[in-house]
Amino acid sequence: MSGLGNTTADPSRLDPEEKIGPEELRALQLERLRWTLRHAYENVPFYRRSFDEAGVRPDDCRTLADLARFPMTTKDDLRAGYPFGMFAVPRERVRRVHASSGTTGRPTVVGYTERDLSTWADLMARSIRAAGGRPGDIVHIAYGYGLFTGGLGAHYGAERLGCTVVPVSGGMTARQVQLIQDFRPDIIMITPSYMLALVDEFERQGVDPRSTSLRIGIFGAEPWTEGMREEIEERLGIDALDIYGLSEVMGPGVSQECAETKDGLHIWEDHFYPEVVDPLTGEPLPEGEKGELLFTSLTKEALPVIRYRTRDLTRLLPGTARPFRRMEKVTGRSDDMIILRGVNVFPTQIEEIVLRTPGLSPHFQLVLTRPGRLDHMTVQVEARPGCPAERRALAAGELVEAVKETIGVTVECSVVDPETLERSVGKLRRLVDRRASGAR
Ligand code: DLL
Repeated sequence: MSGLGNTTADPSRLDPEEKIGPEELRALQLERLRWTLRHAYENVPFYRRSFDEAGVRPDDCRTLADLARFPMTTKDDLRAGYPFGMFAVPRERVRRVHASSGTTGRPTVVGYTERDLSTWADLMARSIRAAGGRPGDIVHIAYGYGLFTGGLGAHYGAERLGCTVVPVSGGMTARQVQLIQDFRPDIIMITPSYMLALVDEFERQGVDPRSTSLRIGIFGAEPWTEGMREEIEERLGIDALDIYGLSEVMGPGVSQECAETKDGLHIWEDHFYPEVVDPLTGEPLPEGEKGELLFTSLTKEALPVIRYRTRDLTRLLPGTARPFRRMEKVTGRSDDMIILRGVNVFPTQIEEIVLRTPGLSPHFQLVLTRPGRLDHMTVQVEARPGCPAERRALAAGELVEAVKETIGVTVECSVVDPETLERSVGKLRRLVDRRASGAR
């Protein structure tokens, strides 16, 4: 976009691990993997039980491929240990905890030793640098601070890189706009959905969003499409880069898109070992096939995770800007998938269509109802400001047709006035499920 050509990775700026050769990387991973399996088995009753039940011992792992013989770990397993049962070190050595909100039931608590926190800051610093950030940059952080890993994760990484941090957290949208104008940050770290809300707020205040000091946006914590990238880059005149992570594995900074290639996210494989399995059978899939992503931590002390099922769907690709493998942009989680009259629909598929339909804004919700015996989906989407009534009607028809053609399912579309749908200040929930209440 706005020309990051001059920030092509300067090898002197990279961590030594970012220049590692393939043989050396595999050897490092195997050594760290064997340590992790032993550490988990010896210190976490859950892992001891699950390995014993599967008839495997840490020493059975002699090659990286042997990892597939070990049992997988799920979010429910972590929940069952609530609050501190999965820690592999005495609680006194845990310097910080975070927790994932968990829409149902108990949250998942995660913990970090001093060394884990330091590794996390290093990897976040590496991520921000890969996105084009440099020491001395001002970083506006609008990920939520608190039990969510976004705010503090980004915060310590930006400090570690040598940036000036503005720890704004989420919310107070009008104030965010003011601070961006006054402090003139180079980088913003925020969910893509909340970025859109800020862009609207700039326009509401009569400020051209392209006129800000921002150069780079580092967006994650929720799925977003290439169409959304174009929308954000265009409206803000910045480069939009994808960052991925999850609290159970660390938080933000598990993988990051590089500014020079923007071709998927390089997984920091010196600390996290990825696998992709069939989401139904759990069988490993050949490299390059799309399935559910698993991670095994390689250096974590407080909360080692073995073959953790992320529920995120992606494929692994060879490295480009870095020697590590890449993961394709995550456009859906197995639990976000809507099964509408037998057809699988991901909210991101609708996002792609909304964004290429003239007259429609990127603010939309998917409302599920069950008026009779069959599920029904309505795409409620805001018109772009100034979009004439005739265009609205045409846009609704075009969207319905495009959904039918590309996804193979019939939906309804209702185009509503600008600024009428709720804005997210953090992670976006696209789906409004009114089926249980029987409401129309
Ligand atoms: O969302 C950590 C994070 C914070 C990542 C800030 C990036 C930026 P959790 O709350 O545990 O952690 O949620 C993790 O969010 O399994 C994905 O489903 C989703 N997710 C995170 N990043 C992306 C992304 C944080 N770049 C869950 N693209 C993950 C798509 C993402 N989905």
